[in-house]
Amino acid sequence: MDTQFTRRELGVAAGATALGMSAASSRDIMQTAQAQTQAPRSTAPEFPKGFFWGVATASYQIEGAPDADGKGKSIWDVYAHTPGKMKNGDTGDVAIDHYRRHKEDVASMKDIGANAYRFSISWPRVFPDGAGQPNPNGLDFYKRLVDELLAAGIEPFHTLYHWDLPQTLQEKGGWQSRDTAKAFGDYASYVAKNLGDRVRHFFTLNEFQNFVDMGHRGVSLTVQGKPVNIELAPGLKLEQGALNQVAHHAVLAHGLGVQAIRASGNKGTKVGPAEVLFAAVPLIDTPETVKAAETATRELNARFLDPMLSGTYTDAYLKAAGADAPKFTDEDMRAIASPLDFVGVNIYVVKSYVVASDQAPGYRQVPMSVSHPKMFSSWHTFAPEVLYWGPRLVNSIWQPKEIYITENGCAAADTMSAEGRVDDADRVMYLRNVMTQLQRATAEGVPVKGNFVWSAFDNLEWTDGYGTRFGMIYVDFQTQQRTPKLSAAWFREAARQNAVV
Ligand code: BGC
Repeated sequence: MDTQFTRRELGVAAGATALGMSAASSRDIMQTAQAQTQAPRSTAPEFPKGFFWGVATASYQIEGAPDADGKGKSIWDVYAHTPGKMKNGDTGDVAIDHYRRHKEDVASMKDIGANAYRFSISWPRVFPDGAGQPNPNGLDFYKRLVDELLAAGIEPFHTLYHWDLPQTLQEKGGWQSRDTAKAFGDYASYVAKNLGDRVRHFFTLNEFQNFVDMGHRGVSLTVQGKPVNIELAPGLKLEQGALNQVAHHAVLAHGLGVQAIRASGNKGTKVGPAEVLFAAVPLIDTPETVKAAETATRELNARFLDPMLSGTYTDAYLKAAGADAPKFTDEDMRAIASPLDFVGVNIYVVKSYVVASDQAPGYRQVPMSVSHPKMFSSWHTFAPEVLYWGPRLVNSIWQPKEIYITENGCAAADTMSAEGRVDDADRVMYLRNVMTQLQRATAEGVPVKGNFVWSAFDNLEWTDGYGTRFGMIYVDFQTQQRTPKLSAAWFREAARQNAVV
């Protein structure tokens, strides 16, 4: 079979020349865009009207420009320059140079059919020391970015904290200090005051469980029988009591952030967290197994989602923690449980499979077999049904008003062919499967309003560096040339049809 793509296969839209793509592929793309617009719909069931087909990124992973316009250092600027921490010594100093290329990047996102973009604000760009004197020049970058997005018809979704804590705050105790939660509230208030006219959706913090545990102790998993160790900045090794207190300060920051946005943002501004969901998936769809999965999922999220949504720490968590339980006040709990407009959940993996059990606590965790299939990242077991069960369980346990899937996606061993194409068929397979499961959840009435693919662009995959590519748009890190992959063509058509194609 001919290995060349037909025009239809490489379905990415106009504007390609502006993106610095080769003339031949740009011509293909323009013609394909036209073919797609005229094409009939498939018979695939649709997502609800107005569903957001989004893409996601985070500041340290894409921006570069670590000192531009008065930015302060973040814990990632320091950590990534610590010898031995990052694969191949990679850092975010340049990343994909998004700080300077954001116009081009917004155009690329528009071209691949995204109608929503979730990105994070770098806290030390806005408050170089984390608190005190703001830096309006830093915030201006995000104003320019948002204006560009709005002009392109892409809905901006802000994340206030995607792990790049100002280094000055780290030196004062970081998340071990309650003052960091307070500083987060002040930062949220400043951003809401200055961007609330343009941005309608705010996420507070990204993946509480991961930045708390991986950043303050390190996490060890076993995947397909092999050990996987993950660490994030600041790379501490805290005892359990101190770790639980860090967790408490993180949810307290969320609560203070929600209150600050309500007080300072525009009327109608919506806010919620973007937590990684630790989902316990029932292995059989029977009422008792689903109930077991609900009990297990609530417990697996007992330090983060559950207090945000129920206003308490579960008895089981406090009892198991004993003397290591976090210290908190009733007022803290009231702030943490501030009413939300939506819940954002990042969903990549099943945390645990479960069946019902007669014995306490009412479920049995079923270990994953060493033969369980996986995607390219060391930790990424392939379990597409979690995109059905995750939102369904969030809905039945906590009944939020709205749900966003704030991240799903996969890394792949992407390479550029001699013809300049990136054939990420495994990513297309992944997206089709997870989005089919998500569509099932929406068809059953689970109020999922949108999905954000991680990621729009290849970027710095934290300690794994630049070799682990998650983007639907390929980035040549030497030339900074962007090239939509095959998955971008799939995404564009799926977004156009509002269905899994
Ligand atoms: C994080 C992203 C990360 C992605 C893939 C999520 O844990 O929010 O920053 O790059 O997963 O690992």
